[in-house]
Amino acid sequence: MMAATGRKIWMDGRMVDFADAHVHVLSHTLHYGVGVFEGIRGYATRHGPAIFRLREHVERLILSARLYHMKIPYSTEEIEQAILATQAANEVVPSYIRPIAYRGEPSLGVKNSTGAVSLAIAAIPAKKYLGEGSEAGVRAKISPFRKPHADALPTFAKAAGNYLSGYLAGVDAQQDGYEEAILLDQNGYVAEGSGENIFLVRDGQLYTPGLESDILVGITRQSIERMARDLGYSVVEKLISVNELLTADEVFFTGTYAEIAPVKEVGHFRIGKKVPGPVTTQIMTTFRRIVQGEEPKYAEWLTPVPARSPSIAAPPA
Ligand SMILES: Cc1ncc(COP(=O)(O)O)c(C=O)c1O
Repeated sequence: MMAATGRKIWMDGRMVDFADAHVHVLSHTLHYGVGVFEGIRGYATRHGPAIFRLREHVERLILSARLYHMKIPYSTEEIEQAILATQAANEVVPSYIRPIAYRGEPSLGVKNSTGAVSLAIAAIPAKKYLGEGSEAGVRAKISPFRKPHADALPTFAKAAGNYLSGYLAGVDAQQDGYEEAILLDQNGYVAEGSGENIFLVRDGQLYTPGLESDILVGITRQSIERMARDLGYSVVEKLISVNELLTADEVFFTGTYAEIAPVKEVGHFRIGKKVPGPVTTQIMTTFRRIVQGEEPKYAEWLTPVPARSPSIAAPPA
């Protein structure tokens, strides 16, 4: 859990004091979970603060909104500028940046697909999401709660309501003494963690569940796939059985908040011989160098934060 603290929150074009960033209690999003959001990281680099894969996160936010019939009243570039301005106003790195699009006006009734959509952006200090396990190895439990099927809701959307199964799975795992849950898809194949994608290493090759397992298509996942291929590994997206997971040489989670977190146990099974294993270690080291701006080949993955970012006006009423 992370306590949310910060200085300023961007709300529809205004920088609001953290304590004053309120939404009405009868907002549609609060009642029905129809809100879409992103988790983005700001890092300290030698050239100053920078945001990792800003464009990809903003594009996924807009895609998520579209899948839930929400029209965010800002362009991709305007949202990017607003995120940069929020990061600059909060002067915090490493940061966790949380844009959320929501219907904030009082309105009850499920079928509200026309109410005004608002956008808010916070930037708070980032901590280690999976605690000690972030480096030394996470203990994970295969959850009795499964990922919803894509014919129940659009699983590619990073949407508030989509997190209900992840919430139940995560709490169940924690109550049983684990740090994280692994959710299976509706067919019993491995899908993802409550807030991460998952990779396996077997005989020097990487495997990760494909899109048919109704995962959230992680931006870290995509970054690791590209980076691992550049390092000479083959990466295969496929259906992954629980047997394959339990007998893998190495397992790790990937996600914006979790970054790369090795898994040392799944239920009562120990994974591999040493955690983190050699492939995971190489990937963690290279990823760390990339986000710190030390790998010129991946420089375009980092957007520098200008000291003073232009402000974005509120949308027309
Ligand atoms: C359910 C779920 N899967 C996967 C991910 C990883 O996605 P990303 O790497 O884009 O943060 C997240 C994190 O946002 C998540 O919540």
